[in-house]
Amino acid sequence: MKISHYFAILKKSINIYFPFLFRDILMLHVDICSVCNLKCVHCQVWKNKEKLQISFSALKNLIDQACSCGLRFLAISGGEPFMHKDLFMFIAYAKKKGLFVSITTNGTLLNEERVKKLRKLKVDAILISLDAVGGKHDEMRGQKGVYEKVVRGASFLSKYKVPFYLDPCVTEDNFEIIPDLISEVGKLNAKNIFLYPFYINTHNIGAISLRKYKSIRGPKFKKSNLKKLVGIINSLKNNKKIDCVVKACLNKFPKYFSGKDIDLKEFPCYAPLFDAVVSFNGDIYPCWASDMKMGNIYENNFSTLWRSKKYNTLRKRFRKAKHCPLTKYNCFCLTHREISARIDPLFMLKTCVFKKKRGL
Ligand SMILES: C[S@@+](CC[C@H](N)C(=O)[O-])C[C@H]1O[C@@H](n2cnc3c(N)ncnc32)[C@H](O)[C@@H]1O
Ligand code: SF4
Ligand code: SF4
Repeated sequence: MKISHYFAILKKSINIYFPFLFRDILMLHVDICSVCNLKCVHCQVWKNKEKLQISFSALKNLIDQACSCGLRFLAISGGEPFMHKDLFMFIAYAKKKGLFVSITTNGTLLNEERVKKLRKLKVDAILISLDAVGGKHDEMRGQKGVYEKVVRGASFLSKYKVPFYLDPCVTEDNFEIIPDLISEVGKLNAKNIFLYPFYINTHNIGAISLRKYKSIRGPKFKKSNLKKLVGIINSLKNNKKIDCVVKACLNKFPKYFSGKDIDLKEFPCYAPLFDAVVSFNGDIYPCWASDMKMGNIYENNFSTLWRSKKYNTLRKRFRKAKHCPLTKYNCFCLTHREISARIDPLFMLKTCVFKKKRGL
């Protein structure tokens, strides 16, 4: 990361406590296409009938507008980003603008040629969605041979020194193998692991999840599985491979998976202050988990929208709330919670400095 990236993070850390200072955006998540080559059990994106994609000119305008209000980090996702023919042009443009660029991928399309290009473009982070090991991963990803392709892709990333992380989605199907997934970090030579709990994503893929979970506010495990989950998390307390923020997140999993809300006072989320999510049809949302559409990149200038009364009113409402008013479901969307924790100096002090002395 460049000094300017750390500086932008520092400004956001100050912004958390002084909301009228530095109204910059720190990061932008963009789903560049709706198409995908897999059919994962926990994801609804592949069920999209329309083949939508963000064009190069639309993304270029978006990046220019967001950079004019301070953007420093661009996270590219999808669908499967490697299925977009202009992906490398997007990366090249974002890097030219000095952005930190990450790509979330299922890893199946990472061949040697593509990895060499990623290296050449100095992409900053690849997040590989590895949900399990061997045949179990294939089962969860809806196709045979996926795990093997991920291992192959990871070997190229490792060979060409492209930094990569593992990014599993934790559900009732795979929580028992969390320790195995952590071991994969060393085996595949990844930098680290982020464990994302399954959540109800309402804006682009929610329909089927919502039907499945219609009677409750969030995903709920069976009691016997919750007990096992607590045991697994306790067994990881002294694991040095996972950092204190990931541990702090893990500690909240049992409550979240028992169907309870992790409110904003208990674990921070500052998504609307530092982040925005753009769906493959151009719709703009404050985060992954909310269906509160703020605008559309084909209709609105992003920088005007980011600084608009509409956005500021939403931020005010959000800052005062204990339970997040941006969704009616329980939300523990790690994409935003984890980053929020890392940019919140008080949370980091409480969780990583003082608790470390007492043991997590
Ligand atoms: C939608 S995929 C797009 C990128 C790419 N196709 C991949 O699989 O990494 C991005 C990430 O979202 C995760 N995901 C999908 N649905 C989810 C849900 N309901 N809750 C939590 N994570 C989810 C996937 O496992 C993946 O890690
Ligand atoms: S998680 Fe990724 S790979 Fe799986 S269906 Fe969704 S978009 Fe495709
Ligand atoms: S708690 Fe969830 S719904 Fe609320 S802003 Fe954060 S990510 Fe969005």
